[in-house]
Amino acid sequence: MQTQTCRRSPQTTNATDAIAMKRDRRDTEKGRTRVDLFEYQARDLFAKHGVPVLAGEVIDTPEAARAVTERLGGKSVVKAQVKVGGRGKAGGVKLADSGDDAVEKAGQILGMDIKGHTVHKVMIAELAPEIAEEYYVSYLLDRTNRTFLCIASVEGGMDIEEVAANRPEAVAKIAVDANAGVTPEKAREIVEAAKFPADVADKIADVLQTLWKTFVAEDALLVEVNPLAKVASGDILALDGKVSLDANADFRQPEHEALEDKDAANPLEAAAKAKGLNYVKLDGEVGIIGNGAGLVMSTLDVVAYAGENHGGVKPANFLDIGGGASAEVMANGLEIILGDPDVKSVFVNVFGGITACDEVANGIVQALELLSSKGEEVTKPLVVRLDGNNAELGRKILSDANHPLVQRVDTMDGAADKAAELAAAK
Ligand SMILES: Nc1ncnc2c1ncn2[C@@H]1O[C@H](COP(=O)(O)OP(=O)(O)O)[C@@H](O)[C@H]1O
Ligand SMILES: [Mg+2]
Repeated sequence: MQTQTCRRSPQTTNATDAIAMKRDRRDTEKGRTRVDLFEYQARDLFAKHGVPVLAGEVIDTPEAARAVTERLGGKSVVKAQVKVGGRGKAGGVKLADSGDDAVEKAGQILGMDIKGHTVHKVMIAELAPEIAEEYYVSYLLDRTNRTFLCIASVEGGMDIEEVAANRPEAVAKIAVDANAGVTPEKAREIVEAAKFPADVADKIADVLQTLWKTFVAEDALLVEVNPLAKVASGDILALDGKVSLDANADFRQPEHEALEDKDAANPLEAAAKAKGLNYVKLDGEVGIIGNGAGLVMSTLDVVAYAGENHGGVKPANFLDIGGGASAEVMANGLEIILGDPDVKSVFVNVFGGITACDEVANGIVQALELLSSKGEEVTKPLVVRLDGNNAELGRKILSDANHPLVQRVDTMDGAADKAAELAAAK
């Protein structure tokens, strides 16, 4: 960053990358743009689309394991529900041979820590009858090759990572064209590539097609079954499932909202979402509000750049309040940002367009009144830059209001520098 001479465009890429990285990190941590499901939720989706699964019920107290196990015929598998692999090896999957035993095993597993994830729920699953073989299959979005990919192996189970690392030839990777999908012919191609035994070939081909149906119908980014087990009777069963949904498809997947793990979401992001705001929490100290995603992105860059002269302060968030910056929207935005304990100063960067600067300035003034009337006294300094349509009038409104915490700076760079300086001084 220090060595750039032309700073705007390369930095825009940096901010975009930062958001993308942040999103990726968030994906794994909290699941928003990508929603990772628990095994029991994956199991339910598999069942809905015809992928063969065993019965299972999720519970959160040890005692509840008894009735479920008795309903399942007196035996069960008690499985930790955490969004991390390797539960079996960590002691999070245990057989129970009676209702009492299930209560005991559930008691051991609930509250357990698996790779930093605390177990709050367990699934009581039907016990698979005599597993003969464990296979692996998954579909995922292959961004690099701009296609979908099927990964399949006859050496599935708990050591698939080892197999993939040491014997890659045992793991078949077959591209799946989005338009053609997994036809019976494609399923056959996958079966052959992964060298599934002849006696299970037809059943595996069926599962490959229903699993693809799940992947498409649910707008998933990943569906994984490991193990896909062959049991003594010759039946094929999905004994463990991992599904990641594409949250960008939420608008056409109303049922997916219920699958989100509300407890795990960042509380500020959850509050912003509830208010319909386009907000992403970042790691810095300067709160950012702007109108228009492009302007907000470049504001992040300019603040990060200015922050280098002020002890390395950085933007604390992305917040685009969009076109109509009404007092209410502005108040909602300010409320979220001022509620972030990391925020030391706020930079409101507005370019007046259809919504002119005077309206925005009134919005800011009213928002501050609204917040103080709600007893949420504003204590952090605000730097406001207004430009574009009716800028002069907007600036006058702010000057007249003369709010002790609001400073007007009329250039974007100057305002960013001021906001960074104020954040660093706190
Ligand atoms: N319902 C079940 N019945 C019998 N065995 C099971 C069942 N579910 C899982 N297992 C066994 O436990 C192993 C680990 O469980 P799994 O659900 O794959 O968790 P993880 O992949 O997190 O270790 C599986 O490979 C399988 O051998
Ligand atoms: Mg597994």
